[in-house]
Amino acid sequence: MKILVTSALPYANGPIHIGHLVEYIQTDIFVRFLKLSGEDVIYCCADDTHGTPIEINASQLGISPEALIQKYYNEHYEAFKTFFVNFDNFYTTNSKENKEFSDYFFTKLKDNGDIYKKDVELTYCPNCKRFLPDRYVRGICPKCKSADQYGDNCEKCNTTYDPTELLEPKCSICNATPIRKSSGHYFFKLSNYSDRLQSWLEKNDSLQKEVKNYLLSWIKEGLKDWDITRDAPYFGFKIVGEEDKYYYVWLDAPIGYIASCKNYCLKNGISYEDYWKSNDSKIIHFIGKDIIYFHFLFWPAMLMGVGFNLPENIVVHGFLTINNEKMSKSRGTFITAKECADKLNPEYLRYFYATTLSHSLKDINLDTDDLKSRINSELADNFGNLTNRCLTFLFKNFGGTLSQFSYPELENEILELATKVIQHYKNLEFHLAIRTIMEIGIIGNKFFQDSAPWALIKTDKDKAQALLSFTTNVIKIMGTLLKPILPETINKLEKILNIERGFTIADDINFNLKNHTINKPSILLSKLEDVKLVEQHPSGNLLLKAGKILTVSDHPNADKLYILEVDFDTEVRQIVSGIKDHYSKEALIGKTSVFVYNLTKAEIRGVASSGMILAAKSEGNLGIILTDAPKGSVIEIEGVKFNGKTNLLIKEFSKMTFSSKKGEVFCEDKKLIAKDSKIYPDKDIEGVVG
Ligand code: 2FM
Ligand code: ZN
Repeated sequence: MKILVTSALPYANGPIHIGHLVEYIQTDIFVRFLKLSGEDVIYCCADDTHGTPIEINASQLGISPEALIQKYYNEHYEAFKTFFVNFDNFYTTNSKENKEFSDYFFTKLKDNGDIYKKDVELTYCPNCKRFLPDRYVRGICPKCKSADQYGDNCEKCNTTYDPTELLEPKCSICNATPIRKSSGHYFFKLSNYSDRLQSWLEKNDSLQKEVKNYLLSWIKEGLKDWDITRDAPYFGFKIVGEEDKYYYVWLDAPIGYIASCKNYCLKNGISYEDYWKSNDSKIIHFIGKDIIYFHFLFWPAMLMGVGFNLPENIVVHGFLTINNEKMSKSRGTFITAKECADKLNPEYLRYFYATTLSHSLKDINLDTDDLKSRINSELADNFGNLTNRCLTFLFKNFGGTLSQFSYPELENEILELATKVIQHYKNLEFHLAIRTIMEIGIIGNKFFQDSAPWALIKTDKDKAQALLSFTTNVIKIMGTLLKPILPETINKLEKILNIERGFTIADDINFNLKNHTINKPSILLSKLEDVKLVEQHPSGNLLLKAGKILTVSDHPNADKLYILEVDFDTEVRQIVSGIKDHYSKEALIGKTSVFVYNLTKAEIRGVASSGMILAAKSEGNLGIILTDAPKGSVIEIEGVKFNGKTNLLIKEFSKMTFSSKKGEVFCEDKKLIAKDSKIYPDKDIEGVVG
């Protein structure tokens, strides 16, 4: 049985980031596990190189699309290598094989009567002389009237609409006003396949239930025809028999799975039909939950139409969140593979992802404290420490030579756990696989500790050697089971254990390593100190709130100070403030201003003060920061997450720089914001805020 496994093809217009890596690491672990089990499996992928954004980016950079996709190809290739994502073939969709298959699919589906042509009205920029995808049109949301929204949906109120409904639409490339223009497009009649898709879904037991349910309900609602044409200028394959018309990138992208497989086969003297047309093969795709529609409806329908094998399974995973929030550039959590590898051993990311991966659509949360504790307590303490202690002792006292031993009960217990681990891998429940491997480690550690070879060696050398030999076998079993996740570390272990052929499930899930000599051990895994994956913004320490000034009185011991009573809704605080030279009492009372809320309480000339008013200063003028946010509301710093700090010291606060500009207020370069409310300096002062 031949198995082909794929991951979704990454777009060749941006770097690989740690969100992408969830999928590639998940797939890679699975493929490595299958290989370890002796399966005849290949892992194929490619860059997804076509589409409008790639064409536009290249032209804006003044390079050819070919040069742009080559640059990303090289970058992606390196990123995958760094994270030990071991494709058997990493190809490109801009290939000869892919062109041939795309034409073949198009022609065959057209001959089937699945593709027809009709005229459609689309958004067109007369200045750029191009049709504009929805993402390239900006305008005012017809519903909530927010400015600067995309052509297809509003990010402020989440309404989806037709690009024709957008008010005052503008081309986001040149700012000209687009027009409507008609063009002849090809459509794929997906509904021709509704019944076949439904029965394929219903029959297939490997597919995730939650996904199946969505799909069956979509089919029931009726499948819409799919526009598979794009007009020039476009970077892609020209449609056979047409000038200036191209296949939409989503047509040739999945065909790229076949093309990459064929390219592998050509290089290895086998036929791609062994995968795509044979009864003795299996195709397994891994994808994210955002591209379910393409992979479970369009793609199988296309395969049915040309008579190729359908995927046996399509594994869908959730998205990566960082500290339970979406990855975001402004939060500093958009971390590329390269940046991550500079700060963290790539195998540790693989391990952490494995501890959270299951066969479900649940999002994967990356929390660096969690990561650190799992690496340190499981990899370093449980597995690494046992390995180090046992092998060093064996090497020092017995020249690394293993003897006979027999601990039937423990051996059985461990082998049963190992069988479970294998089943968990098969079921894509990697988190359970890891948990069970760690159970083996707990047994191994307890045995080692309880039997205390360091004491025993003085009285019964043979017995000490036997128990070290047994423990070495436990390490070998754990190593074999961890190999899909930690390929490099386990490769080191194979060398230390002097098993040059490499561990396999068939040969190494046993206690057969006896009368064998190992090599000099070295430390396998080190503990993590601080993991600083996410750059902390200093203003994460800061809690700002809107407060309404209730009363103002003179400070008894200082000429320039007022004592304010400020209402924060849940409490009224007394705050001393040096704004007396700039405001009369009456001018302040009733105003809602922005206050530092988590400042350590202080005595200012003998009067207690808990907080500080924010004000902008410029050339001797001063204006407090005003807001129309309700009293007590938290004022956020855009893109920065408050870390829960209490008692912010004045000294820490003074390290932060604030400013006001064009009626807005910033902390460092980040804007102060509050939901549906304005935050602005009184008297329009532009300057330093403090
Ligand atoms: O969503 C994406 O990133 C696409 N480039 C995935 C393509 S997968 C396959 F169909 F090619
Ligand atoms: Zn334009």
